[in-house]
Amino acid sequence: MKLRHFISLHDLTSSELRQLLNRAIELKNTRNPDFQPLKGKVLAMIFEKSSTRTRISFETGMIQLGGNALFLSPRDTQLGRGEPLRDSAKVISSMVDGIMMRTNKHETVTTFAEHSRVPVINGLTDLMHPCQLLADMQTFFEHRGDIEGKTVAWIGDGNNMCHSYIEAASILNFKLHLACPEGYKPDSCFVNSASASINFFDTAQQAAEGCDLVVTDVWASMGQEEEQKQRVLAFKDYQVTQSVMSAAKKEALFMHCLPAHRGEEVAEEVIDGPNSVIFDEAENRLHAQKALLELLMSGN
Ligand code: CP
Ligand code: NVA
Repeated sequence: MKLRHFISLHDLTSSELRQLLNRAIELKNTRNPDFQPLKGKVLAMIFEKSSTRTRISFETGMIQLGGNALFLSPRDTQLGRGEPLRDSAKVISSMVDGIMMRTNKHETVTTFAEHSRVPVINGLTDLMHPCQLLADMQTFFEHRGDIEGKTVAWIGDGNNMCHSYIEAASILNFKLHLACPEGYKPDSCFVNSASASINFFDTAQQAAEGCDLVVTDVWASMGQEEEQKQRVLAFKDYQVTQSVMSAAKKEALFMHCLPAHRGEEVAEEVIDGPNSVIFDEAENRLHAQKALLELLMSGN
């Protein structure tokens, strides 16, 4: 079987992505403990940054599929002492069946993939968070059906999550409305490659108008903690408030990849309100990634 990585959502075609989402929903609904396609297989999980959901969902997913997962922190491995990435990729991939990585720089994941003999999965970089999009899309499909032709509002930072939403919009054929402050817009390569799917708006309210889904994320991502004060000022008009939600459709869903800061990027009444599906979204990390692990690592 040809070696496949999952570095960006574009590593899947739109029909593969839809199949994977349907498979995730099926795995969630059947929960068969005897289904162990990854029996004896091992996933190495390399984390340069903190994680709750990504670590737990991949580790649990591997165990539920019959395999095992290793948590590797650069602090305790030679990766943290400067062993070249290509040597590390060759060594680690000679002993395990898959590698999931959360890294500061996106190139760390792409370099690893270049030198790995097993699938490499992007568990978040400074540029993208494709696994979160699998869970977000699964959640939308479960609540509202296929997202094709729908409209999504992204409010806030043009960050890694925003980039993955831009990719999802072009693959799954939905419209993406963006409201990001000046200086915090998404990277132009993402924008240019999906220009038919996206539109920029000046205010959160305008972006949310008539939308089926409203999404936001923290104002300062991991690694940007020192910019927190300056970002709070830049983003102060970009909170997802009840009045922003009122501009969207009545049945519009609210999502946030979590962890969230209530009272900053989102008002408490929105994130804890009736349209919020944040906890389904978090749980779906497990189911969507099980479908991904099965696709990349089961050999079927
Ligand atoms: N959403 C997400 O990736 O969460 P963690 O940082 O807890 O893994
Ligand atoms: N944009 C956030 C997502 C966390 C899951 C970050 O990179 O910290």
